[in-house]
Amino acid sequence: MAEIAENGRTWLLSGPGSSYALHLAEADELVHLHWGPRIALADAEALAADPLPAYRPFESPLDGREEYPVEGGPRFTRPALSVRTGERRGTEWCFVSYETDDDALRLRFDDDGLAITLHYRMRGDVVERWVTLHNGGPAPVELLRADAATWTLPDRDGWRLSQLHGRWAAESLLTSAPLTYGEKVIGSRRGHTGHQHLPWVALDTDATEERGEVYGCALGWSGSWRIAVAQLPDARVQITGGAGHDDSGLLLLEPGRSYTTPVFAGLWSDGGFGGASRTWHAYQRAHVIPDADRDRPVLFNSWEATFFDISEEQQTALARRAAAIGVELFVVDDGWFGARTSDRAGLGDWTPNPDRFPHGLKPLADQVHGLGMRFGIWVEPEMVNPDSDLYRAHPDWVQYQPGRKRTEFRNQLVLNLAREDVQEYLWEQLHTLLSSAPVDYVKWDFNRCFTDAGWPGEPYPQRLWTDHTHALYALLDRLRAAHPEVAFESCSGGGGRIDLGVLSRTDQVWTSDNTDPLDRLAIQHGFSQVHPARVMAAWVTDSPNSQLNGRLSSLRYRFVSAMAGVLGVGGDLTEWSEEDLAEARAWVDLYKEIRPVVQHGDLYRLRPPAGGLSAVQYVLGDETVVLAWLQSQRYGEPVPALRLRGLDPAASYECRETGEVHRGAVLRHHGLRTGLRGDLDATVLRLCRI
Ligand code: DGJ
Repeated sequence: MAEIAENGRTWLLSGPGSSYALHLAEADELVHLHWGPRIALADAEALAADPLPAYRPFESPLDGREEYPVEGGPRFTRPALSVRTGERRGTEWCFVSYETDDDALRLRFDDDGLAITLHYRMRGDVVERWVTLHNGGPAPVELLRADAATWTLPDRDGWRLSQLHGRWAAESLLTSAPLTYGEKVIGSRRGHTGHQHLPWVALDTDATEERGEVYGCALGWSGSWRIAVAQLPDARVQITGGAGHDDSGLLLLEPGRSYTTPVFAGLWSDGGFGGASRTWHAYQRAHVIPDADRDRPVLFNSWEATFFDISEEQQTALARRAAAIGVELFVVDDGWFGARTSDRAGLGDWTPNPDRFPHGLKPLADQVHGLGMRFGIWVEPEMVNPDSDLYRAHPDWVQYQPGRKRTEFRNQLVLNLAREDVQEYLWEQLHTLLSSAPVDYVKWDFNRCFTDAGWPGEPYPQRLWTDHTHALYALLDRLRAAHPEVAFESCSGGGGRIDLGVLSRTDQVWTSDNTDPLDRLAIQHGFSQVHPARVMAAWVTDSPNSQLNGRLSSLRYRFVSAMAGVLGVGGDLTEWSEEDLAEARAWVDLYKEIRPVVQHGDLYRLRPPAGGLSAVQYVLGDETVVLAWLQSQRYGEPVPALRLRGLDPAASYECRETGEVHRGAVLRHHGLRTGLRGDLDATVLRLCRI
């Protein structure tokens, strides 16, 4: 709901439990008033009565108080907007007008023909913010930096910053530290979201998992990005973020051209980190993820089973076994196309390898369909191997700097998706591919970062960085429109491209190449801070873990770990014993029963993965599912009971596993025993309100 004060200069946006207010001060400074619990318009007006302190030597009263600090004038904070026109740098804007509809507010400003519009939209208790810039003047405007939003926190002592850091095979690891004076900057200079940081931060002072105030901000952008969290000299905190990794140039805005930033979403919760996560999850299920009310199927993926050694016969053998254990979607990973028998060749040539699939993919797809499963394939469209027909024909279609080495990672180069001919080529190839065989699912990978991001002949090559991501989005949108029944997975060497932008056009993401079930618990714990189980793909692979650490673990432990998200199987099923396959079938059946609760329910993180017992709980209506893992039992001590959440204390709940009936109040205050013991044990407990 959007409300406006009578003077037309104070605005209040409210969701069910929170409000956001801003005010236009005398000289058209746009001042932040409030972000927190729900307030009335009269409260916002009271705050607006005294929006800015007096000037003092060496300090600016604007710093830390403006909604969107531009460069120029009495400001010393990092600007959200930095532009240059000819010799003049900075912005001096005048307010033009505002518009509101139900939950949205748009504020228009002008600086000598440069139209700047700040957009706000309430989605429940999530505030979406973004900015559009239109060059209505006669000269080109250089956009050096245009953040999507700047967020202002209330005055508090002792802010703490939480972030998700990582690297390949160790993504989304949660870490928190007190904020001190100065800036903490996270981001990606790599052309994709990156394994190193998810574009999310949370700030609190004394919150726990279920109590206290938490502010969260998440950026919807899949290219390079930056979020800067600053504690200013007066201890006020602002968070500014957007596309691009530095201030040296986003793009050149020619007269008549516009630029729209990505969305930077923010929320306030007083339900601790758990409450904040549940709000993020509900927001993404309702407003971001396509078809989020549909269950995601149990998939099989061939990567760890067969790597590049793919044949129609051996994939058919795997498919038979996959179908027998209840898999619903069979995905052939890398190695089915061009001359792709290793990572040295073939990327760019998106036609089936004639030796491996002499009659194309259709015969295998038909067999998979005949077994009652959907059929999926892997692609990596933004890349090319120098050893490919595409590169031989178009060596200038890649990103490169003239006269410099073309840096190869995994023997591949990045295609310049800012070029229209490259965009058209990829559309033709992928559209033909999806039309030539009954493909239901596409795993879209991206296995190297930008390095030599040049575009010889193009006067302003920086735009390649943002245009690449826009072209990716446009391609995905076009393919989805042309093939509405095809689902897409975002993958980037595991979890290198996970953000709200890619999630608005893909159905799930590959969380990490790390399929070790123990490591996965920490990765999933971090991932769940912002994204829901509904998109978090997790596979059961072989034991010992072949990719990473050789760790041995039971099928039970591996399945329960992967059942916390969208369950998949990625082991070599042709090597599994009859007993293993029978056990796997039982786990897959159980997952299908709990799937609606896991994929669509509210998540409660009961205990973090910290060495001993860890557990998560999902609640949907009367159904509750608990997944619990014991890493290691020490000194024969009993494993603690799990205090459940989200239950009605006055109700009774029957445990499907034990048949026991428990009082809600007892489950909440005294807990549920799991029966776990020893090392790497795990269990699933289903409770139903009676
Ligand atoms: C990286 C992905 O994360 C893996 O799952 C697999 O698809 C390989 N790429 C294939 O090259």
